[in-house]
Amino acid sequence: MTPDDITRTFLDHYHRYDHQRAPESSLVPPPGDPVLFTTSGMHPLTPYLLGRPYPGGRRLANVQRCLRTTDLDEVGDSTHLTVFQMLGSWSLGDYDIVTSLRWGFELLTDGFGIPAGRLHATVFGGGNGEGPDDTARDTWTGLGVPVEALGEDNWWSNGPTGPCGPDSEIFVWTGDGPPTGTPSTDARWVEVWNHVQMRYHRHPDGRLTPLPHSSIDTGMGLERLEMVLRGDRSVFTGDGLRQWVDAVRDRWNLRGADLRVVSDHLRSAVVVLGDGVRPGNTGRGYVLRRLLRRALTVLWRDDPARTLNDLPPRVYGDTLRRFRQPVDVGSLHAMLVDEERRFRGLLRRGRPIVDRVRARGPLTERDYHWLHDTHGLPRDLVDGLLAEAS
Ligand code: SER
Repeated sequence: MTPDDITRTFLDHYHRYDHQRAPESSLVPPPGDPVLFTTSGMHPLTPYLLGRPYPGGRRLANVQRCLRTTDLDEVGDSTHLTVFQMLGSWSLGDYDIVTSLRWGFELLTDGFGIPAGRLHATVFGGGNGEGPDDTARDTWTGLGVPVEALGEDNWWSNGPTGPCGPDSEIFVWTGDGPPTGTPSTDARWVEVWNHVQMRYHRHPDGRLTPLPHSSIDTGMGLERLEMVLRGDRSVFTGDGLRQWVDAVRDRWNLRGADLRVVSDHLRSAVVVLGDGVRPGNTGRGYVLRRLLRRALTVLWRDDPARTLNDLPPRVYGDTLRRFRQPVDVGSLHAMLVDEERRFRGLLRRGRPIVDRVRARGPLTERDYHWLHDTHGLPRDLVDGLLAEAS
């Protein structure tokens, strides 16, 4: 199944159960929203999960592009991406977790053809003043799916405040032989889907209060589901990533984690640029800048002459099409190359300055501030130069 087939199957399934399609938002949340990027499918629906009536009904489904910087250090393994697409379904104060899990099970087995024997679930085992989630556990047991009760891992929130509650995660066995162990004991169980019961509102002082109505929020990573359906163990061989991996490998002969980091970061940077963010020294612009600089740092480790100018524009074109971003490929290419030029200049100027400070001994907090304020050298760049020199 291609990502388009998967998306269609997902949306059709929920359409049959009367879900309206919610519009996809940009990666950039609307003004006034404190978060930098849309991190999950539920994010744009936060006011409705907190109780405001949604004009499009109480059952929704969609596909939403997301960016997670919390996973940035995990990128480089074979299942994490910085920018990914999330298939989501919602019950805004309508049906309950039993229905959500049953429809989810039906979609995975009948819709996507995953054998029930390759599924495992986890549920909330208790905490936060809330008892173990016996309802979700009994639902899985009734469906014949083995289930494991865990603690904090099965309490979902989108940040320190906002809607939150116990969740049930669904894992698919990706090992060669028959399934063994449980999601917490064997990493070959890969998480694909999360069903959250949004029952509480976490306030800035840490208090939890019950929401006016309990909602269900589910999210399933499209690239990861595609991987599982292909019987593969890496998201980097999927439809949307392969072009990047091929282009990066062909041009620069990278392998392993380096190949994955560079492919992921360049592709993510293109989507972020496609949503109108420009490189900068603060906020969103700085996240974009860091993605590009991390990719360039890996590229230049072996050969400082490597340049993004060598990337074929068709890889951008493919990504922009997938994310439905009407952006001119030529101007996007120019922005990437311009950012590369700035970074090269900064390193050229920064290297001797950092060397001089370093010669006096280990860097102090004051040194870092001085390098930043006087020379425009951010801490992670200074750390990179120090690592390079040692
Ligand atoms: N919000 C939950 C998640 O991102 C489910 O959609 O995992």
